[in-house]
Amino acid sequence: EQLEVASENHTKEGYPHYLLKEIHEQPESVFRAMGRGGRLLPDFGSALLAGLNLEKRDFFDIKKIHIIAMGTAYYAGELGKFIIEDLARIPVEVSDASEMCGMNPIVDKDTLFVAVSQSGETRDTIAAIQEIQQKGGRVVGLVNTVGSTLARMTDGGVYIHAGSEISVASTKAFSNQVTVLILMALMIGRSRDISLSRGRELVAELKALPGKIQDILDRGSELRNMAEKLKDYQSILYLGRGINYPVALEAALKMKEVSYIHAEAYSAGSLKHGPLALISEEMPSVFICTSGDYQEKTISNIQEVKARGGKVFVISNYKDSNLENLADEIFIVPGSDEAISPLLTIVPCQLLGYYTALALGRDIDQPRNLAKSVTVE
Ligand code: G6P
Repeated sequence: EQLEVASENHTKEGYPHYLLKEIHEQPESVFRAMGRGGRLLPDFGSALLAGLNLEKRDFFDIKKIHIIAMGTAYYAGELGKFIIEDLARIPVEVSDASEMCGMNPIVDKDTLFVAVSQSGETRDTIAAIQEIQQKGGRVVGLVNTVGSTLARMTDGGVYIHAGSEISVASTKAFSNQVTVLILMALMIGRSRDISLSRGRELVAELKALPGKIQDILDRGSELRNMAEKLKDYQSILYLGRGINYPVALEAALKMKEVSYIHAEAYSAGSLKHGPLALISEEMPSVFICTSGDYQEKTISNIQEVKARGGKVFVISNYKDSNLENLADEIFIVPGSDEAISPLLTIVPCQLLGYYTALALGRDIDQPRNLAKSVTVE
C-alpha cells in the first residue's frame, strides 16, 4: 500500500487528507459509475449494465434479490433494498455476510444474489458467497477493485469505477455502489412497472447528480461550522425515516469511524420505543428529513426531541420555515427525486464526520483499530 500511495495516481493532490479528497471526487466518481453516461439509455429511459450477464428475459424469473455485504457496502445495500423494491417491485433482503457465514443460507433458482464490496477481498463476504455458490446460487458482484477475488468468483458483475480509495472510511465507493444499485433498479424496473416517462425522468435526475453534489461541496465551510458545534459531545443520535434511515446508519458510521464519537442511528419512528430516554442537553440528534411521504412524521419526531431539551441538527432538501425554526442548525441540499436523494444527503454527513475528526485532531485516513480491507475472520 505504501508504494501505491507514493505512485503518481495516488496523491492527495493538495488536500490535507485522502478522506477529504475522496469526498470531493464524488461528482466525477458517480459520473464514472454511470459509465460517463454510457450506462444510461436516455431514449429508452433505462440503464444498461452489460456485465451482469442478464438478458431482459432473465429479469422475469427473478423473484427476489439478496444483497450480501459488510460495513459501508452493507448500508449501500440497505439503500439498494429501498430503491429496488420501490422501482422494480422485487423483494430485497440484505444480509450481513459475517452473520451468514455460520448459517445455512436459503438458496433457490429464483433469487439473484448480489455481493457488494469495495475491495473485493472482504473475508466474510467471500465466505458467504462461496457457501451460496456451493448450493448453486447465482451471484453477481458490485465491486470496485478490478480483478479482485470477488470480481473473479462471481457469475457476472459490474465495476463501480470509484477509482482507488485510500481512506479507510469509505465515501466515494459508497456513492458509486448506490449509483449502480439505482441503475440496476432502473434497468430491472423498466421491464416491469416503470413507464418510459418515469424512466426518462430518472435518467435526467442521474445526469443532474454530479452538479448537485458539487453545489454541496462548495458549501463545505457551513459543515465545518456545524462540526464545531458537534465536536464536544460524547454521543450523537442519527435519525431518519424510509429512505433516510439507511442514510442515517451510514452517516453515524462515518462519524464514529473518523471522530471516535459514539454515534448511533435509529429509524425516527423507533425513537419513542427506547432511544427517546437518551435525549437531554447532552445528546444532540442529526435528523435526515427530506420532502415526501415521511416529512411530517419526521418533523413531529424533531418536536419530541426539542421538547426534551435535545439539540437538533437537520439535513434536508427543501425549504420550510417550520423546519428551519425548529432546527438549531440546518443544511439544505439540492432537491431531487427521492431515489437519488441519498446521494445528496450523505455528502454533508460525510463532511460533518470529516470536520469533526479534524477539529478533534484524529488520525483521519487511518482511524485506530480499523483496516481498509478485513481479509481475516
Ligand atoms: C472494512 C472497511 C469499511 C468497509 C468494509 C467492507 O470494515 O473499514 O470501510 O465498508 O470493510 O469492505 P468492502 O471492501 O467489502 O466494501
